[in-house]
Amino acid sequence: MPDEAEATQGQKAPDIEAEELFRHAMGSFASGVTVVSCVANGMDHVMTASAVSSVSLDPPLILVCVNRSARFHAAISSAPTWAVSVLSAEAKLHAEWFATSGRQLAGQLDSVPHHRTPSGTAVLDQTLATLECKTQQQLRAGDHDIVIGRVTSVDRGSGTQPLLYWRTQYRELATGSQP
Ligand SMILES: Cc1cc2nc3c(=O)[nH]c(=O)nc-3n(C[C@H](O)[C@H](O)[C@H](O)COP(=O)(O)O)c2cc1C
Repeated sequence: MPDEAEATQGQKAPDIEAEELFRHAMGSFASGVTVVSCVANGMDHVMTASAVSSVSLDPPLILVCVNRSARFHAAISSAPTWAVSVLSAEAKLHAEWFATSGRQLAGQLDSVPHHRTPSGTAVLDQTLATLECKTQQQLRAGDHDIVIGRVTSVDRGSGTQPLLYWRTQYRELATGSQP
């Protein structure tokens, strides 16, 4: 008969293994890196996000998955519009900054080159593209919310090379991978 400690370990070990396997599997899926931004209560809110996807072409819809425990969750939940900056390779430091938990929100854009969409949302300068959206639907999914946005405007950025994320590291395309 296993004692209580063994029984508990026996129950927990497979869960940890399963979580690691899940993280490994999804971390193997190479993605681009974006910064999602909005204005809530008169303040800029910005967060690095890679769980961003195109959803529909007609009408144009995209989604971002936002951790319910991120401060950005409350912000995007109350903001009528939000923007996605598709980062270029040179924006790596900015991606790191907007993924730093506990950073001071006031002035967080001060040292980051950015401009504003016509509706006033901040978007970064070092991008391949920027999109602005109005929230169409927000769905609870586990510890995240899936926020689906109707794209209201799109702009090309000045960058040429994407910032990528694969297996917990920022990456760039190999030299010579020209568009
Ligand atoms: C490359 C990368 C991608 C990320 N993608 C997401 C994402 O899609 N959704 C999310 O909720 N958090 C994501 N995060 C984590 C947030 O950026 C991080 O938790 C951030 O500190 C949240 O800030 P806040 O609590 O100030 O809102 C990502 C982090 C990194 C480094």
